[in-house]
Amino acid sequence: MSRYWSAVVHGLTPYVPGEQPKLANLVKLNTNENPYGPSPKALDAMRAEATDTLRLYPDPNSDRLRAGIAAYHGVGADQVFVGNGSDEVLAHAFMALLKHDQPILFPDITYSFYPVYCGLYEIAYRQIPLTELFEIQVDDYLTPNGGVIFPNPNAPTGRLLALAEIERLLAGNPDSVVVIDEAYIDFGGESAVGLVARYPQLLVTRTLSKSHALAGLRVGYAIGQPHLIEALNRVKDSFNSYPLDRFAQAGALASMEDRAYFESICAKVVRTRTRLVADMEALGFEVLPSGANFIFARHPAHDGAELATRLRERSIIVRHFKRPARIAPFLRITVGTDAQCDALIAALKALC
Ligand SMILES: Cc1ncc(COP(=O)(O)O)c(C=O)c1O
Repeated sequence: MSRYWSAVVHGLTPYVPGEQPKLANLVKLNTNENPYGPSPKALDAMRAEATDTLRLYPDPNSDRLRAGIAAYHGVGADQVFVGNGSDEVLAHAFMALLKHDQPILFPDITYSFYPVYCGLYEIAYRQIPLTELFEIQVDDYLTPNGGVIFPNPNAPTGRLLALAEIERLLAGNPDSVVVIDEAYIDFGGESAVGLVARYPQLLVTRTLSKSHALAGLRVGYAIGQPHLIEALNRVKDSFNSYPLDRFAQAGALASMEDRAYFESICAKVVRTRTRLVADMEALGFEVLPSGANFIFARHPAHDGAELATRLRERSIIVRHFKRPARIAPFLRITVGTDAQCDALIAALKALC
């Protein structure tokens, strides 16, 4: 606290990111990173950027990268916006497209950055409870609103909403923006990008942090019709004209172009997820169906916080959320390599 702070800063409750411990030899399953390295072609492209040209500012509009993303998705480059991680893209979307007179809607259990952006930009919101089975029910969102946002698959539950349900939401909600946050969609879900041409109020956000194994590079993007993209650009150019540096633009483009590589690492993660779920269930855990690179699981006889602490003593880090109370029994566990998941299962066998 300081008397020099603005009133907005006094009122903020900032997001708390998952821990990035400095210790070596951890089994790190707490922040949904990809256990495999990025595309070797992306690494080469970044190395090639380490030249004298770094004295020059990067392309403020990331034209080549946006063209590469557009080609990947089969949309126009004027339908693509890029930012410094999808967190930044989301922040701009809150400011540019979700700040209206009516409250916006998002699930009560979802990505915990959404209420933080609402606090920062002074946006009213209403949280819609997930069902008993932690599902999003589209009918609950077919009510007047200033906008709708949720991840698909949802986080931290991992539950996937069928594309037909997203289309039903769009058809029934033509007057405000719907943001579908597809941070985890590459691990088995069907993207809503194909609906963008038909729904002028749809914005889909994606990231290279998870499926492309580039969390350290900080690149995210949004796809929507040009009028939505223009709103994001207006905010970006009122905030930071150069959100992506030269390494990020080159590395992200090479990664988008190396489709075979990132599809292969996603497939490996999905295979390990199937094994991990079976092993956890064999230990008595209830595991929610996951379309993501993490699972959300609870044990009927063991406390979530206690299990997380005991795992940590064995150098295995998973994520536990104390709130809301409904998810306190759960652990969110990132799908690691087969060896990491074996280490987790061995530790849980000793604990459960
Ligand atoms: C649902 C969801 N959206 C967005 C993000 C942000 O990803 P990034 O800023 O790394 O692109 C995350 C990160 O964990 C997430 O879980």
